[in-house]
Amino acid sequence: MNSSNRETAVFPGSFDPFTNGHIDLVKRACRTFDRVTIAILDNLDKNPLFTADERVEIISEIYADQHNIQVQKFAGLLVDFVKSVDSQVIIRGLRAISDYDYEAQMALMNRTLDPDVETFFLTSSEQNSYISSTLVKQVAKLKGDVSKLVHPIVVKALKSKLS
Ligand code: PNS
Repeated sequence: MNSSNRETAVFPGSFDPFTNGHIDLVKRACRTFDRVTIAILDNLDKNPLFTADERVEIISEIYADQHNIQVQKFAGLLVDFVKSVDSQVIIRGLRAISDYDYEAQMALMNRTLDPDVETFFLTSSEQNSYISSTLVKQVAKLKGDVSKLVHPIVVKALKSKLS
């Protein structure tokens, strides 16, 4: 990996919805990498609450003032997307040891598919370590308050989607 290729890091995920845990990881990634591309998986199998285009719109609005952060959707192999944005770096978050098996499997699969692509794991801050998109969705669907867990733009989007 040469220094010019370390400038862009790709932060992939379903982000259905984007949480404060994700915001925390993007902030941490920006300390090390010049640009971060948030890559939203457009996967119809997963039956998401928000369409990929809605997720692009929501996350783009959150980062409207930050020109070092791009938001794109992707389909197909992650390593192909990483190459397409001229990057060699995948960022993933580790909240707890229970995340490790799945994350290690993905990192090793991606390395097998493309040995030039490296996965960097970042740990979330303690106050975000229990937040998951699945639980946020569940609480929001049951009309619970998710304002401490997600950005106000996401709170608004959840309210309008679930109303
Ligand atoms: O937020 P998620 O759902 O845990 O993110 C999973 C994601 C999007 C990173 C993963 O499903 C993915 O990379 N999918 C693209 C398909 C792919 O490249 N598969 C082979 C590597 S595991």
